[in-house]
Amino acid sequence: MKILIKNIKSLLGVHDTAPPLLSGKDMRNLPAIANAWLAIEDGIIADYGEMQDWPGISDWRELEVIDASGKYVLPTWCDSHTHIVYAGNRIGEFVDRIHGLSYEEIASRGGGILNSAQRLANASEEELFQSAWQRLDEIMSLGTGAVEIKSGYGLSTESELKMLRVIKQLSDQHPLTIQATFLGAHAYPKQFKENHQAYIDLLIHEMIPEVGKQKLASFIDVFCEKNYFSVEDTDRILEAGVKYGLVPKTHVNQFNAIGGVAISVKHHALSVDHLEVISEEDIVALKNSKTMPVALPGCSLFIKIPYTPARQIIDAGLPLALATDYNPGSTPSGNMNLVNSLACIQMNMTPEEVINASTINGAYAMALDSSHGTITIGKKASLIITKEIHTPAELMYSFGTNNIDRVLIWGGGGGGAGAKPSL
Ligand code: NIG
Ligand code: FE
Repeated sequence: MKILIKNIKSLLGVHDTAPPLLSGKDMRNLPAIANAWLAIEDGIIADYGEMQDWPGISDWRELEVIDASGKYVLPTWCDSHTHIVYAGNRIGEFVDRIHGLSYEEIASRGGGILNSAQRLANASEEELFQSAWQRLDEIMSLGTGAVEIKSGYGLSTESELKMLRVIKQLSDQHPLTIQATFLGAHAYPKQFKENHQAYIDLLIHEMIPEVGKQKLASFIDVFCEKNYFSVEDTDRILEAGVKYGLVPKTHVNQFNAIGGVAISVKHHALSVDHLEVISEEDIVALKNSKTMPVALPGCSLFIKIPYTPARQIIDAGLPLALATDYNPGSTPSGNMNLVNSLACIQMNMTPEEVINASTINGAYAMALDSSHGTITIGKKASLIITKEIHTPAELMYSFGTNNIDRVLIWGGGGGGAGAKPSL
């Protein structure tokens, strides 16, 4: 199957040779080809160039031609942090917060993550699969082409493995590219309330070895935070994960900077996520690392906590990725377009920085940089075709408006022609 997209107003994020990520000042540069064409063959970017240099069509058979006059084409969003597999909802907690309770107060009363864990324990794999499938369809229509999904609402060996099996099934069957993360260290289940060490032992001696043996995840995550997992706990858990081939990607600095960044860097974390509060030591630790900082502005919006200081991070020469954190408690939205608008409006990131953060850097933060995140020959043809807009900045400017005309996943329409070829 061949597709030609012609008359593209501007092709964005073009790298003939793609770097793995962009940092600091380089994030301001969004390489583009004006008045461009792009050819897709079997779901892969086959070639591209300026319309004036277009070689013409030698073989019209089985060729679909898309006219993108007035429209931009760019790589699909790479959402490197979600908790999309969950049961039920937490609308009650949302209303409680309107009445004045904080996210942390709700959690300390046994709500929050434990609320979702209880619902998940009672849900079948089929129910979890169906509801997550719908969420994936929704984010795909909003321009996401690759997504990371965490476990972490199981909090028992049985339920964590159940979540990871659902993620595996989604990854095998859904058109989106999916990466799995084991987040057993998300909260302490009720029965371990008075004995945290026993739960950590269970994680290290039972859950992690099982996840590793069954190859159900690529990454290991820990919620390193006061009242959750300490820096010392995080150290032990990450070490155990690494032994089983799981690469760390952690929740750090959401409410307090307690040293989670440095311990994650020590274990060569691929990313450190949240960072709503950040210390000078955290910046120094990140400077000497290959770890991607990830900001989740949808979470800041929804639970009214500070936004990650993007300027401080980027101006220190570091990279930054943006992701949704889609989950039922702190961020019930998987809309990367809203995330991108918030990054401009609340975090003072430029539109170019935002597009790089949500494409190439997001791909890096889930180890998909060789296949996603840029317009490069040989990468997956997972592309956003915008509506007719004035400039790329309009994507963030007109927040709440859907500026996306069409999403191609591996050259297809997301399902049907877009069914994911086997790897
Ligand atoms: O990334 N902070 C920890 N975990 C999730 C929220 C989980 C929940 O509230 O269900 C987060 O915000
Ligand atoms: Fe999260």
